[in-house]
Amino acid sequence: MVLKLVIYFHVMEKLEMNKIRKIVEMAINTAPIFTLSILSILFPSRLIHRFVNNRLIYKKCKIDSEDYAFKSHIIDAKNGFDEDKAVDVLLKHGALVLNDYFDREKIISFQKAHEKYIVEPNHGEASANGRVLPFTKEFCDFWKDEKLIRIMEKAFNAKIFARNFPRFTAVHPRINVDGTIQSNKTARNLHVDHTSLIQFAIYFTEVTEETSRMQILSGSHRHFIYPFTLTSKNEQALIRKFDMLDCVGGIGSVQIHFGDTLHRFKPVGDSRRLWLQVSTSDGNNILFNPWEASKTLSEVVDKAYFIEATKDDFFSGLYPKQPNKGYKIKNGHIQPMKKEYI
Ligand SMILES: [Fe+2]
Repeated sequence: MVLKLVIYFHVMEKLEMNKIRKIVEMAINTAPIFTLSILSILFPSRLIHRFVNNRLIYKKCKIDSEDYAFKSHIIDAKNGFDEDKAVDVLLKHGALVLNDYFDREKIISFQKAHEKYIVEPNHGEASANGRVLPFTKEFCDFWKDEKLIRIMEKAFNAKIFARNFPRFTAVHPRINVDGTIQSNKTARNLHVDHTSLIQFAIYFTEVTEETSRMQILSGSHRHFIYPFTLTSKNEQALIRKFDMLDCVGGIGSVQIHFGDTLHRFKPVGDSRRLWLQVSTSDGNNILFNPWEASKTLSEVVDKAYFIEATKDDFFSGLYPKQPNKGYKIKNGHIQPMKKEYI
């Protein structure tokens, strides 16, 4: 009898949830930004985080909207560029591409030297993450590029920290026998990331409007978008409200986007994109993992360089420093000991 009741309530709960979901989906189709904002107010953890971190409303950009040079989210960085303009473009669109930012030859030779860290997707999968890269000076010149960090910190209005152990990602959507495009293991649907994140990625292949690429909805970071799993109709409703921009550029280009910007991967059949994504955050959602940390500190790593490079706080989440009095265990997690004399 009890079991029957439990099953009954479980089924009812599911039916109710499905009904509510359908109503929300319909509301998003009619008024997407309003509905997602209401959901953000009802479940306010993202809003609270933004408020506490002085990002509830993103900083105003000084861009003159009539200035043609700011209509694009792409800046040609080959022969230098204005950093403040880059910050403004990022603040305006929620994403920025610095075309030809890194020297093409440097990128190609880095790839050649790190082929063993690249993994190609298995048959039946469209994307594959490579192996974590070793903590070398050569790699840190990309990982902790001072100019990129400065641009991101200014736009994000926060000090940023390394969030994950970077690796190459190869996406290669193949065309199925029935003509459809394989896209499993890719973020094909419009979504927002954690609000605490700002990420950049370096292109190791040419990315064009005819190849697999990322697309963003320009200016969507300024709204309060609840991370609801959107149907394709919901996506269409949102796409009508914003300009959809393609993140494209040559080998060595860098793209940056806020976690609050709506974005998706656009798969194109038989077009491969190789990139190296570097995730940074305002100090939250850091993916520390001792197994991966140890892999990055392989025999190829110069210990003296590692000590020097991790002196400031940028890497503190991934390579935590030992506190003076050590750590204590609380609920299965480590916590620095405060000034307790025991
Ligand atoms: Fe994403």
